[in-house]
Amino acid sequence: MYITELSTTHSQTQLQRIGQGFCGSVWAHPFPDVDFRSSALVLKREDGGPGRSLLREYQMHHQILAALQASKNVPAAYRVNIPVSFLFMDETSPHWASILTRLPPQYTACNASVSERIMPMPQNVRQLLGHRFWGGDVDQVINDPTNEHCLIRPYLGRTRGGQQSPSDTRPRRLRVFSLRNFPLHLDQITELGLPADEYAMVMADTLAFLHWSAKVDANDVEFVLARCRTQTQPEAASESHPGFGSREFTSGAIGPHAMWILDFDCCGQLTMDEAGVEQAAKCFWRNDPFYPKPGSSSPDGDRLWEVFKARFLRASQEILQAEDTAVQRLPGRLMNRIVETRGAWAKSPTG
Ligand SMILES: Nc1ncnc2c1ncn2[C@@H]1O[C@H](COP(=O)(O)OP(=O)(O)O)[C@@H](O)[C@H]1O
Ligand SMILES: [Mg+2]
Repeated sequence: MYITELSTTHSQTQLQRIGQGFCGSVWAHPFPDVDFRSSALVLKREDGGPGRSLLREYQMHHQILAALQASKNVPAAYRVNIPVSFLFMDETSPHWASILTRLPPQYTACNASVSERIMPMPQNVRQLLGHRFWGGDVDQVINDPTNEHCLIRPYLGRTRGGQQSPSDTRPRRLRVFSLRNFPLHLDQITELGLPADEYAMVMADTLAFLHWSAKVDANDVEFVLARCRTQTQPEAASESHPGFGSREFTSGAIGPHAMWILDFDCCGQLTMDEAGVEQAAKCFWRNDPFYPKPGSSSPDGDRLWEVFKARFLRASQEILQAEDTAVQRLPGRLMNRIVETRGAWAKSPTG
């Protein structure tokens, strides 16, 4: 059974907290940089703020995976991976007995899910990010075990200039530098020579799939750049490799890597009508600035929005080719509504 990796059957070592969100905490077996064989699962616990439901996330995740299986028309340019979802457990699950002993003493059974672990960027990438974007003690940052779980959040919709608050006059050494969920802004992506256009295309394909195949609004979905899936991962993960597209990213600066999506607990159903378009436009603006945006202040940002939009319309057309005209018009309506509602829903300034 897959779950054994997180239990005492597998190891007595304490599980490591690799993530924290509003919904709860995320735990995995600790691993050295080179050992992937026993590190392919994460446990997400519903121990965060009220109002979030891991059961709902599990159901959404499965709705998305089922749509993927059923889809014949998912456009396939660059690869995007969706973690395998293995299990939902409530507080009565018998698995807790052998998992709780690997968690801190005060932890109790609760709702939780088990899914495939997105493998973090290797040490050379962490070093590169530290050297390029941190003026402080790079060795300290790289050797900090909390930074081992390095996922990159590609922010095509924001530049560092657009993000800095003029009031942040703290000296650099007092600012937090974490590689955990590292926000890589458009100017940094360009500086590293990473393929921003291709990232925009894969995000457009993914959003088209989520809206029109899976029929979800993609509210608060996260995009991350991380390692590609490898053959060295255990059978549990290689049985099925959810995702679409066949071309992997192979940039010189950070080596082979893949786009992944995660975090479906805020996703809602999307209706195939004008109300759905409105909801999708709102979710587009309310998400963290992954997507390129219209009306950006930089020519690069504007060009990228056009790349994203063209690709989104093309992918949507492919997915919706068997639908009636009213439904086929929705993707175009959505792109227009996104332009029209600029500033209405944004939760933070865009660059
Ligand atoms: N499958 C996974 N593999 C690797 N890291 C993950 C995985 N799921 C979550 N994480 C990490 O944990 C963090 C919090 O998880 P997330 O699902 O976003 O929780 P929340 O719903 O509370 O925001 C993520 O931002 C990511 O860094
Ligand atoms: Mg999250």
